[in-house]
Amino acid sequence: MNAVAPGTLYGVGLGPGDPELMTLKAARIIASASVIAHFRKAGRPGHARTIAADIIPKSAIEACLEYPVTTEINFHDAGYIDAIRDFYSTSADRLKRHLDDGHNVALLCEGDPFFYGSFLHMYDRIKATHPVAVIPGITGMSGCWTAADTPITYGDDVLTVLPGTLDAASLTARLKDTDAAVIMKVGRNLEKIRRALRDAGRLNDAIYVERGTMHGERVLPLSSLDAQPVPYFSIILLPGGRGRRIT
Ligand SMILES: C[S@@+](CC[C@H](N)C(=O)[O-])C[C@H]1O[C@@H](n2cnc3c(N)ncnc32)[C@H](O)[C@@H]1O
Repeated sequence: MNAVAPGTLYGVGLGPGDPELMTLKAARIIASASVIAHFRKAGRPGHARTIAADIIPKSAIEACLEYPVTTEINFHDAGYIDAIRDFYSTSADRLKRHLDDGHNVALLCEGDPFFYGSFLHMYDRIKATHPVAVIPGITGMSGCWTAADTPITYGDDVLTVLPGTLDAASLTARLKDTDAAVIMKVGRNLEKIRRALRDAGRLNDAIYVERGTMHGERVLPLSSLDAQPVPYFSIILLPGGRGRRIT
């Protein structure tokens, strides 16, 4: 039996990128945690860690969880599922060892932890055996529509949030059936998304936002964006409000 009470895993939402958009509660939990964990791509500093860099205590133990593959691949790809399943299980075991040693672990999450975050895979694996608490954050999409100075929904507009990893036919069907949309995980899916928007007759309404609220932010009409690789932190907004504004 363990001599010490287990620590708590905190999923800490950091907001969309600008450190000033972090909540007071998130900052307090980070400052007091003895272990700071974060996901990152191999060889990169990690977006979540970059957002919180100035407030991570010097004394904290850091646990970097490095993805073996990109997260922009379709979720039904068999090779992807195996590699990422192993990675999440190993990562959860690593965090559990810190919790068993009595450490509180702050797992840094870009945006909101419960919204498409890798945190969810830790939450699912750890919550049955250890205390887990979640600190909500401003989502990336909220930061992006504000960066674009674009109201996203008016009145009874329906907003649809779509992962860009969906196939083109599904994207087109969903886009035809909504007033407003947010398309996440653009990255290597850009040209497919552009075709789906064109097929849905909405290409000219679409706004592209790269690194919203972060250093290097770019906002432009999608129709003006050259065909080129775009970074992981990019999103496409389709504002609502067509014919629904009371002026
Ligand atoms: C795995 S999801 C994580 C979402 C995050 N938990 C949130 O609450 O926004 C990552 C995707 O969110 C979008 N995203 C999040 N923050 C962004 C930002 N600041 N600028 C542009 N895109 C962003 C991108 O489409 C990116 O591929």
